[in-house]
Amino acid sequence: MTTPFRIAVLASGRGSNFAALLAARDRGELPVEFVLVASDKADAGALALAREAGVPTLALSPRDYADRASFDHALFERVAEAKPDLLVLAGFMRIIDGGALAPWVGRMVNIHPSLLPKYRGLHTHRRALAAGDAEHGASVHFVTAELDGGPVIAQARIPIGPDDDEQRLAERLLAVEHRLLPTVVAGIAAGRITLRDGRVNLDGAPLDAPLDCREGKLSR
Ligand code: GRF
Repeated sequence: MTTPFRIAVLASGRGSNFAALLAARDRGELPVEFVLVASDKADAGALALAREAGVPTLALSPRDYADRASFDHALFERVAEAKPDLLVLAGFMRIIDGGALAPWVGRMVNIHPSLLPKYRGLHTHRRALAAGDAEHGASVHFVTAELDGGPVIAQARIPIGPDDDEQRLAERLLAVEHRLLPTVVAGIAAGRITLRDGRVNLDGAPLDAPLDCREGKLSR
């Protein structure tokens, strides 16, 4: 028997992306072990979901630390104790200190609700609408010290329709995120997706552009 691929999730909010990962595992589509869900918010929905699912949890409050770097170092030290193969940021709403994240480059991914490099940071749906974009989307990328700036692994796209307001667009995109994230994590767990010399590789060959994710399938 091979050892299961170990995943730690960092989340600040309701945790619907973590729930999507759990559901994919329960359907047999994601052969991984969730070793920890960690949060900067003790009342994060993601922590409650983890407890229900029997996944170990950790909540640390930034208020208990002198500055961002010391909080981040403490958090990542505790996360390392769970010996994850991959860290998944699923709605982790903090900028992470570059020194604390450096050991994890290539082993940490984030899901961001825009077609990166468009709309790094917050209010992505509002910004896509205000720009009059014809389409919107979500990206999963390897995390580097640059906020929402690491190499993009895969994206999923949706058209923006005349009935979309910020909330409706966010809801429609969230459903797409829930397929994109487990699909990418499964690809990493299977060893198909890696980061080499700053470039995303699929099956040993570097990508020229992010993978396209449609109906749970990745294509170049
Ligand atoms: C998602 O939109 C994700 O793309 C962004 O934060 C949100 C998290 O939602 N990074 P949830 O907590 O997973 O429901």
